Amino acid sequence: MSPRKRTKAADVPPKPPRRQPPRCNDLDGKRWLQNSISVWSDLRKTAEEQRLKHPAQFPVALAERLIESFLPATGDDCVLDPFCGSGSTLVAAQRRGKRSQGIELSSEYAALARQRLAGDAAPAVIHEASATELTRHVAAESVDLCITSPPYWNILGQKRTADYKTVRHYGNHDGDLAVIADYDAYLEALADVFRQVFDALKPGAHCCINVMDLRKKDRFYPLHSDLARRLETEGYRLDDIVIWNRQAEYNSLRPLGYPAVFRINKVHEFILLMQKPGRLQRK
Ligand SMILES: C[S@@+](CC[C@H](N)C(=O)[O-])C[C@H]1O[C@@H](n2cnc3c(N)ncnc32)[C@H](O)[C@@H]1O
Repeated sequence: MSPRKRTKAADVPPKPPRRQPPRCNDLDGKRWLQNSISVWSDLRKTAEEQRLKHPAQFPVALAERLIESFLPATGDDCVLDPFCGSGSTLVAAQRRGKRSQGIELSSEYAALARQRLAGDAAPAVIHEASATELTRHVAAESVDLCITSPPYWNILGQKRTADYKTVRHYGNHDGDLAVIADYDAYLEALADVFRQVFDALKPGAHCCINVMDLRKKDRFYPLHSDLARRLETEGYRLDDIVIWNRQAEYNSLRPLGYPAVFRINKVHEFILLMQKPGRLQRK
C-alpha cells in the first residue's frame, strides 16, 4: 500500500456557503404541493361574488392562487387582466399587495370593478377600452403575471347544455369579442390581444388563461387546445394546464342527448399556463 499523505485540517479549504436557489414564490412545502395538483376542485365564489351582476366572473380565490404560485409575497410586481370584467383579478392582486391593471370594454363592468377595489390598497388601474388596443395602455415588458378569462366566443345567450340555465351575454358592445360569429375569426381576435399581452410581459412571466371547450349542436370546439397551439405561434410556450373542476356548482345535470346520442356534460374549465420564454429577473 502506498503511503498516503495525511491532510491536516488546516489545509482543507473551507466549503463555500451553499447558494440558495432564487425563490419563485413564498409558498411553504404543504401549500406548494396543494397548488401543484393539476385539478383544482375547491374553488367557490363567495356569497358576495355570487350577488355581483356579471355573467362570467371567476372567483377571486382562483386569481389569488395563481398569484401566490407565480409571484413572491413581497415585491413590486404588476398583474394584468386584459378582459377584467368585474375586476376579480385586480381584487386578488390588491389582497396580495400587488399593483394591477385591467382593461374592460363595458363601462358597466368597469364601474363594478372600480367599486370592488379598495381605495388605499395597492394601486389598481382600470382602462375602459378594448383589449385590442392594449399596447396603448400597458408598457412593454412591464407585467409580471397576466391572469384572464376572455369572452367565451358567442355562446353566451345560449342555454348551458349541462343544466339548461340561460347564460346572459355581456351586452353586445362594439368590439366585444363575444359577438364574433366565426370561430376562426374569434381565435384570431384572441391571438391579436395575446400578442400584445406577450409584448407587455417581462421575459419568463406567465399568462394564465381561463377557457372552456365549447359545443354548438354536433360540432365540438376544443378551444383550450386550439388557443394554446395558436399562441405558441406567437412565441408563447405552453408551460402546463390546470383543470378547474366546477362540478359542485352544477346541481341539476341532465342526461345530455339521451337516448339518441351520447354527450358529455362539461363541468370543468381549463387554465392554460402560457409562458413568455426567458428568465424572470427577481430583485
Ligand atoms: C369572461 S369575462 C371576464 C370576467 C372576469 N374574469 C371577472 O371575474 O369578472 C370577459 C370580459 O371581457 C369583456 N370584453 C369583451 N370584449 C372585450 C374587448 N375587446 N376588450 C376588453 N374587454 C372585452 C366583456 O365585457 C367581459 O366582461
